[in-house]
Amino acid sequence: MPKNHVLIVDDEDLYRRALERILRRQGHTISSACNGADALEFVANQSVDLVLCDIKMPGMNGLDVVKRIHEIRPDLPCIVITGFGSSERSLEALGAGAFWYLEKPFEQERLDVIRRLVDQAIEHGQLKSENRRLKSELQSRYGFDRIVGKSEALGQMLSLIEKVADTESTVLITGESGTGKELVAQALHYNSRRSGKPLVTVNCGAIPEELLESELFGHIKGAFTGAHQTREGRFSRADGGTLFLDEIGDMSPNLQVKLLRVLQERSFEPVGSSKTRQVDVRIVAATHQDLPRLIEEKLFREDLFYRLNVVPIEVPPLRSRNGDVALLVQHFLARSDEDHGRHRTSVSHEAMDRLAGYPWPGNVRELENMVERLAILSGEGGIELADLPASLAERSSSTATAHAIPAHELPAYELPAEGLSLYRAVGELEKSLIGQALSRTGWNKNQAAQLLDLNRTTLIEKIKKRELTPPD
Ligand SMILES: Nc1ncnc2c1ncn2[C@@H]1O[C@H](COP(=O)(O)OP(=O)(O)OP(=O)(O)O)[C@@H](O)[C@H]1O
Ligand SMILES: [Mg+2]
Repeated sequence: MPKNHVLIVDDEDLYRRALERILRRQGHTISSACNGADALEFVANQSVDLVLCDIKMPGMNGLDVVKRIHEIRPDLPCIVITGFGSSERSLEALGAGAFWYLEKPFEQERLDVIRRLVDQAIEHGQLKSENRRLKSELQSRYGFDRIVGKSEALGQMLSLIEKVADTESTVLITGESGTGKELVAQALHYNSRRSGKPLVTVNCGAIPEELLESELFGHIKGAFTGAHQTREGRFSRADGGTLFLDEIGDMSPNLQVKLLRVLQERSFEPVGSSKTRQVDVRIVAATHQDLPRLIEEKLFREDLFYRLNVVPIEVPPLRSRNGDVALLVQHFLARSDEDHGRHRTSVSHEAMDRLAGYPWPGNVRELENMVERLAILSGEGGIELADLPASLAERSSSTATAHAIPAHELPAYELPAEGLSLYRAVGELEKSLIGQALSRTGWNKNQAAQLLDLNRTTLIEKIKKRELTPPD
């Protein structure tokens, strides 16, 4: 393998130096950082092929570092270094987008494994960015065939897409993160009479607020400092086609007003201009957030919500798509085999059972990443139970669903005559159940998370949000 640039991030000198030595002998160029902030700055400014990052560091922890790195460089592979025997954390690391994990300490007899893992991760990253480039060059048309699955939940959604694709209706796509909202937006556009015109995507969450207005509507020369030239906005670029407003829940209230006006009047003014422009665009918006709740919290305008929510399409979470995991595993495996020029990788029954039984909090994206890694890391004999991350392999396939109590078995909660605030009631119920799980497990978050069928990070977020504190 040619010389590659590896960044090692660890606050502990001893481990960092040990890794540096191991990888330098492998022929790689090594750079180091002792904390997340330095690592991010490095990745933003230098060409790096792989990051090895310790999970436990003061300040930003390794999982956050990985997430932030992928905001800057989505294809850069990261291997997370965990403490010995912390298999729960390793699964969390994969959920956060790490390529794989490496347990400390780095014993002599594992050096070959470490080196192979490093090579495989680098190769995977290079292939991924090459694919992305080819894909965007091809400008391929995205239809229904890209949406894999035969479950009833997915089927219902597909028939709704089919019905509304070739209409002018505004569509609001909702669903948990990683469920395929962007694929749905593409299917809507490419199955409409607008398919010959552009599908323009704006990620409202990723563009800083002060830039978003000019991104959407364009600006004229001199409109603000730095506006050296008149620039067309994405509304104009989408003229005749579809404008996909992704992560609409992140749009600032200020811009929500302006967007509302465009939706009502189909016209707008570029920043700095008083000349009104007319556009013919179809709007498709998406969010993983609960917009009615944002409305209650006064973070999202109700009038805008009704303008967008003309046709709501809810993308079901993967855990409620019966049978789809197996189809998706086969689909992603076939694609990965083709990319790597491999023969068909097989999956043992036991391994497939575990994959199908896991609740996939990160939905299809998490499954896709997992399958790609498993395909690379598994040996000649295909993917076996032993190839799965430890905590997934140990999880009995029934536990994943054991907690899903059918609604009729839940204790009845009677609606008071005067009604109630649903969000407050649900919030209180959530707080009470989490409190019970924590006190039953003596505040052991892993066990409490299991009792609630949540992943640990989600539980921790909820503990913070609900302001629960351990007894003294
Ligand atoms: N049914 C499916 N069949 C095949 N691939 C899928 C399917 N659903 C999602 N994917 C793939 O999973 C990944 C995530 O999908 P997508 O980006 O559309 O999700 P999303 O809902 O927009 O996520 P987020 O909320 O995080 O933006 C993509 O690589 C997509 O191609
Ligand atoms: Mg998306």
